[in-house]
Amino acid sequence: MIPVMRPWLGQDEAEAAAAAVASGWVAQGPRVAEFERAVAARVGAAHGVAVSSCTTALHLALALGGIGPGDEVIVPSLSFIATANAARYVGATPVFADVDPATANLTAKSIEEVRAPATRAIVLVHQGGMPAALGEVRALAAAHGLLLVEDAACALGSTYEGAPVGAGAAIGAFSFHPRKLVTTGEGGMLTADDADVAARARRLREHGMNVSAAERHASAQPVLERYLEVGFNYRMTDIQAAVGLVQLAKLDAMIARRRRLARRYQHLLSGLPGLEVAADPPYGTTNYQSFWVVLPDDAPVGRDEVLARMQAAGVSCRRGIMAAHLEPAYAGHPAVPLPVTERLTRRSLILPLFHQLTESDQERIVSALAEATGL
Ligand SMILES: Cc1ncc(COP(=O)(O)O)c(C=O)c1O
Repeated sequence: MIPVMRPWLGQDEAEAAAAAVASGWVAQGPRVAEFERAVAARVGAAHGVAVSSCTTALHLALALGGIGPGDEVIVPSLSFIATANAARYVGATPVFADVDPATANLTAKSIEEVRAPATRAIVLVHQGGMPAALGEVRALAAAHGLLLVEDAACALGSTYEGAPVGAGAAIGAFSFHPRKLVTTGEGGMLTADDADVAARARRLREHGMNVSAAERHASAQPVLERYLEVGFNYRMTDIQAAVGLVQLAKLDAMIARRRRLARRYQHLLSGLPGLEVAADPPYGTTNYQSFWVVLPDDAPVGRDEVLARMQAAGVSCRRGIMAAHLEPAYAGHPAVPLPVTERLTRRSLILPLFHQLTESDQERIVSALAEATGL
């Protein structure tokens, strides 16, 4: 069976994790601090605050922005459900906007269609690594005084107009789940340029404490910590950060390999009439965290049947990106019509793409897809 994704982990990650264990400091400590600096530098942000997941980074982002009950947060429905849930965590209302058919991301136009007096924030997703049209969305957010959070869960190493996704973001949120390029098992990173925002994020991830455990440990004098506000335990461990540091050093090689494989997919799939495939937008580059294809509306075989046939042929694919408004958790939640979202979620599937995928695997996948779709 060809899996849809396999993390690129090896002996170096195992040794780094073992060294963290042997050091005796396994919770948030020096390796987390080093990982924060390394990720912030890589994405062009002034500060990185490591957390337990991208979901917790998104929760903190909205809490930092003072978003709460009565506030509306514009999000794509076409995203992993955590994007919408983050608004719910702070008691705000997620408002779904439709997406662009080529990039699967929100646009200034789709956001404008649902913007209302209660709108306080936008969570702009760079879906599956595909950079969103940042310039126009930043301009809209600035014009209306809205907090713009960039959900870059999948987009580490993607670029927008030559700069890494994360650069210039008021708040960015990244994931290190194993479906992403760089993994720490579970993990996330909040990035920000504003030192006060980053300092408060550090405090909120650690119970609202005014001094971290690592700082207390390093101090020659007893330090009596204070709890300045109600925070959370959203910390990353030094074992995770040790793995993340090794992984991050491999990011450029991962992206180069995936982009080479994606170009080859695009070439091989050009023989399937009507099939749309993921590709760079004109203004940036994707890291191809997800390589999706969209079946034509008149395709002879339905998407779910294609998935089943691929599985039977020994190729593990996934349905395309989910749509939160179609899930029971959002039943009855008001939403404007979302025709592009519904088409993409129903007609798309994600093909295997990972560092170790071979060219012959790709040929097998493409011929299985031709057979399964009848295109
Ligand atoms: C767009 C998006 N946001 C948030 C998340 C949540 O990330 P995590 O699993 O690190 O909480 C994901 C995970 O796939 C995602 O794709």
